[in-house]
Amino acid sequence: MEALLKELLIGVTAFFRNPETFQALNQWVLQKMLQSHSENQPIRIWVPACATGEEAYSIAMLLVEGLADLNYSVKIQIFATDIDRIAIEKARLGVYAEDVLNEVSPERLARFFYQQGEGENFSISKVRAKNTALTKKFGTWLSLRCRMSFMSRLFLA
Ligand SMILES: C[S@@+](CC[C@H](N)C(=O)[O-])C[C@H]1O[C@@H](n2cnc3c(N)ncnc32)[C@H](O)[C@@H]1O
Repeated sequence: MEALLKELLIGVTAFFRNPETFQALNQWVLQKMLQSHSENQPIRIWVPACATGEEAYSIAMLLVEGLADLNYSVKIQIFATDIDRIAIEKARLGVYAEDVLNEVSPERLARFFYQQGEGENFSISKVRAKNTALTKKFGTWLSLRCRMSFMSRLFLA
């Protein structure tokens, strides 16, 4: 069953996958959300079907940058889920090979990642520890509903 499920799941992902979409998401959604958000309320984001975490971490980077630009402080929580347990474990680790980081600019690489040594993989640092929760199951944490949530529930039932 596990092997069959693995065949059905397509784990393609990347940091800032579809850059134009990310640009639009940042400009029209994330930045506007930051600008209009009250400091007392945390911003909570759910990334369904997050695969190995690149999408969730990309959003986290954009938000951290946005907050710095606005010189603003608000708690951000990103909740990322996926049906694939192995993908989630990788996402939690937050360690990526250099070739996975093609879409990450040198500035972001320096700011958000660290490398243990020459030729070693890159580890996403502060954003992960503070702002993200990666899990297989989606709890009652948000009231948001979407089709992927419904599908996850069917698979996991
Ligand atoms: C193509 S990847 C997309 C990754 C990421 N969202 C992105 O756009 O870069 C699809 C992911 O959806 C997950 N997935 C497929 N069906 C799912 C379901 N019913 N519930 C949760 N995750 C699912 C797979 O395990 C896989 O990691």
